[in-house]
This record gives sequence, C-alpha cells and structure tokens, in this order.
Amino acid sequence: MTTSSTDNTVPQSLTGKRILITGAAKRIGKAMATYFAARGARVLLHYGGSRQEAEQVAAACAWEGQPAPLLQADLSQVSEVMRLFAAVRALGEPLDCLVNNAARFTRIPAWEVTEADWDHIHSVNLKAVFFCCQQAALIMRDQATGGRIVNISSLGGLRPWAEHAHYCASKAGVIHMTRALAKAFAPNITVNSIAPGVIPFEEREEPRILAGIQMTPAGRAGSGQDIAEAAEWLFTNRGFVTGQTIALDGGLNLV
Ligand SMILES: NC(=O)c1ccc[n+]([C@@H]2O[C@H](COP(=O)([O-])OP(=O)(O)OC[C@H]3O[C@@H](n4cnc5c(N)ncnc54)[C@H](OP(=O)(O)O)[C@@H]3O)[C@@H](O)[C@H]2O)c1
Repeated sequence: MTTSSTDNTVPQSLTGKRILITGAAKRIGKAMATYFAARGARVLLHYGGSRQEAEQVAAACAWEGQPAPLLQADLSQVSEVMRLFAAVRALGEPLDCLVNNAARFTRIPAWEVTEADWDHIHSVNLKAVFFCCQQAALIMRDQATGGRIVNISSLGGLRPWAEHAHYCASKAGVIHMTRALAKAFAPNITVNSIAPGVIPFEEREEPRILAGIQMTPAGRAGSGQDIAEAAEWLFTNRGFVTGQTIALDGGLNLV
C-alpha cells in the first residue's frame, strides 16, 4: 500500500507548510497569503508587475523574522513559469501546496474577440495554470508528504457569461483540467479547484457588482477570507477529496 500525505489519519494544520501563491500582491491572492501566514504557513509570493504591493505583502507575511520570499514572473510565457519554479527549487525547501490564483479578465463581445484577445486570456488563465501544476507536481512527487494544489477557477467556468465567452472557456478549462490532473498526479498529490462568485475589492460599488450581490442567495459578496478558508481546508483535510471544484459563490451558481 502506498504511504503518502493522502493517508493521514489526523487532520493537519497550516503551520510550517510551504505554500506558493501566484498573483499574491493584491486582492484574493494577498488575502490568502496573509491568512495562511497568520496560521503559521511559510508563504512564497509570486507577483507579475506589482512589486511594491508584493513587498508589502511579503513584510506582512514574515517568517522567522524574514519577509516572505518574492518571486517575479510573467506567467503568459512558459519560459517564465520554468524560471519561477527554478527559483522555487533554489530556495531548497519543500513545496507543500500551490495556489494558482493569477489570472486575467476581459469583457469583449464574442463577435469581436481576436486571436490576440483569446491568447491574452488563455496564456495566463489556462496554459500557465497547467505548467505551474506540472512544475509543482514534479517537486511534490519526490516528497514523502506529497503535495496539494488548488486552482482558482471562476463561476464563469460553470455558468455562461455572454460578454466573457473567451474567459469562461479558460476557466471551464481549468475546472476540467483539474479533474484530469487529479488522476494524473494521484495518489500523493491532490488537485482541486475553487470557483469564486462575486468577490469585489475596489469595484465594490459598481452597478454590475451590486446587481451580482443582489442575485446571490447568501445575500452578500464573498471575501478573500472566504476563498482562503476553503483553500485551507483543501490543504489540511485528510486528502480524500481530489479533482473537485467548490463553488465559493454564496449559491449564485444555483440561480
Ligand atoms: N474577484 C472576483 O470576483 C473573482 C471572481 C471569479 C474568479 N476570480 C478568480 O480569482 C483569482 C483572483 O482574482 P482577483 O480578482 O484577486 O484577481 P486579479 O486582481 O484580477 O489578478 C490577480 C493577479 O494576477 C496576476 N497576473 C495577471 N496576469 C499575469 C501575468 N501575465 N503574469 C503574472 N501575474 C499575472 C497579477 O499580478 P501583478 O499585479 O503582480 O501583475 C494580479 O495581481 C483569479 O484567478 C480570478 O479569475 C475572481
């Protein structure tokens, strides 16, 4: 019988876990980083262009008196994903968990989407997620404790949004790819997805956001902490859940 992290009989905690989060400088990524760090995790923070914000998050997520490691990469290029994971390996520490959080979002009528618009979204939202999963799994498979991967998808991967067909396709791809990779990487590595609904930040008062909240059965918007709590459970449970997508949307997918 295989002995792995997925055999644990005692629920784990985040304390001491090494967790790489992509797009960790702002918003949901930042909320997860600070939440995990407050629970004793050692977070590794990827960012794209937001260096200043990332430095602030790194300071807030200090571990043993040192700012959290900062790793820059443009995830639209696979060569940059490879460079990111070379940097992760160079830290010389285990990698227990990965959150693929970084993504792009554009609103373009389907009639007008160009090849460049399509590639802009898919390079980051789907291609980079695949190669980040692959590179993380190559590290995790050699660890006695295995690993856990969470891919942040979207309600748009479950429900069709007319002005975001290209984005919906990328996120539906993440959800189904999560299922395939869960089989490919079993039994030592679990791969799951969280599909957020309306999680507003600076756009909190925009009419489309207020309309989305009004339609949400839970009667409120989601927060970064809602996403972080779900990821925490996926990282600390006994490992019998893999290939699944949790709609973190206050029931909006039911409407
Ligand atoms: N907020 C919501 O309501 C909502 C709803 C459904 C799904 N989601 C999903 O939840 C996740 C987080 O959402 P969010 O609203 O917090 O995201 P966001 O602010 O739109 O993007 C998160 C980060 O992605 C990084 N990123 C984008 N393109 C990149 C690239 N080419 N290379 C490297 N990094 C890149 C950016 O990093 P830099 O700033 O450092 O460049 C950005 O800060 C995303 O996967 C999103 O699709 C969010």
